[in-house]
Amino acid sequence: MGTPFRSGILRKPNETMRLMVTTFVGVVFGFFLGVSFPTLTLTKMNLPTSLFPSIDLTYIEDKYAGLSSQALLNALSSLKGNRDTSTYFYRYNDTEIWVPTNPRGAERLPPNIIAAESDFFLRRLWGQPSEDLTIKPKYLVTFTVGYDQMKNIDAAVKKFSENFTIVLFHYDDRTSEWDEFEWSRRAIHVSARKQTKWWYAKRFLHPDIVAPYDYIFIWDEDLGVEHFDAEEYIKLVRKHGLEISQPGLEPNNGLTWQMTKRRGDSEVHKVTEERPGWCNNPHVPPCAAFVEIMAPVFSRDSWRCVWHMIQNDLVHGWGLDFALRKCVEPAHEKIGVVDSQWIVHQSVPSLGSQGQAEIGRAPWEGVRERCGKEWIMFRDRMVNAEKAYFEAMGKDPPNSTAH
Ligand SMILES: *[C@@H]1O[C@H](CO)[C@@H](O)[C@H](O)[C@H]1NC(C)=O
Ligand SMILES: *[C@@H]1O[C@H](CO)[C@@H](O)[C@H](O)[C@H]1NC(C)=O
Ligand SMILES: *[C@@H]1O[C@H](CO)[C@@H](O)[C@H](O)[C@H]1NC(C)=O
Repeated sequence: MGTPFRSGILRKPNETMRLMVTTFVGVVFGFFLGVSFPTLTLTKMNLPTSLFPSIDLTYIEDKYAGLSSQALLNALSSLKGNRDTSTYFYRYNDTEIWVPTNPRGAERLPPNIIAAESDFFLRRLWGQPSEDLTIKPKYLVTFTVGYDQMKNIDAAVKKFSENFTIVLFHYDDRTSEWDEFEWSRRAIHVSARKQTKWWYAKRFLHPDIVAPYDYIFIWDEDLGVEHFDAEEYIKLVRKHGLEISQPGLEPNNGLTWQMTKRRGDSEVHKVTEERPGWCNNPHVPPCAAFVEIMAPVFSRDSWRCVWHMIQNDLVHGWGLDFALRKCVEPAHEKIGVVDSQWIVHQSVPSLGSQGQAEIGRAPWEGVRERCGKEWIMFRDRMVNAEKAYFEAMGKDPPNSTAH
């Protein structure tokens, strides 16, 4: 994760000297500003960069420059003859602010200062903040990866244009090895050993963090993307109004749901037929309103709901696919499979092999067993939560909440 700092911090001593000098120039300049405009507060100071292009106030706090912001403030206030230093911090009596419509916990702040949402945009350590971003990615793609799959991920990432922020979640602790790929420098790397895609998603993709992205791809590492282009995919998703989607799967190894199998003759499909008796209601999974959890794509709004449904302890996410429909309405129209941009599921037992070997059992067996247990636990929690809700409302639950 250290990439943004690599070029910035380890300075040679003579460079440090130069920084101190320019900082000092900044201090003196600030003093004259203060003298000429006594009511101006530090927060409003706006140095014209064209006059002093080398002044960089971020270094004031840089321990390598040897000058803390407190030292700067002391210097300033003695220069200015003991004026009340609190004017550098506050202009108003802040006990008088209480805004109940602010985000919870931030009621004491004036609304205009609140940055309630964030992003993954990488910024520079210098220059004008407003000029940091040459491109503001509108979409986000995350892959949960081990280094063994690097060839596959390299191929996959190349299918996503510069309009995508790339986030890699590393489950094998190997992050620096990815530097061999040029794109790795503009990716965000998050490392936590032996965790699953949904564990990372719950912790690092809070809806307020990913709010600037129109669509969020939360993908496995073992997908073949030869016949996939992300920009084209998004065009189709917009055109057909899909809030939750996945690319069609090449039916190569039998064990796939009918719903997620690619169709050769359409752009998108939203309903399917399954084996007789599997769907008593044609509008619910697995015949409609359903995508799998290996390569889902969420709109901003649907993710805001789905994130809340992910359980902190049920890390494999099994059963989530059958419940996605609870987040969009009508689900059988807004959940679908994109046929003309399709992928191949290569079924590499990647995370499975990260399990714990026990006597007489391969690591993946314990992982698989837990997946099944989690599925039942998730389903029970959902059923109980719905029951509790309808009881509290004094209503009978609607008929088909199962699945
Ligand atoms: C701020 O305002 C409150 C209420 O008007 C007052 O009680 C308090 O003394 C003021 N604090 C300061 C530091 O002026
Ligand atoms: C990125 O987005 C812009 C704006 O929507 C679009 O014009 C451009 O073609 C996109 N880039 C690619 C590679 O598709
Ligand atoms: C629920 O099922 C019962 C009997 O199975 C049926 O009479 C009733 O109309 C159903 N209600 C709804 C809302 O579908």
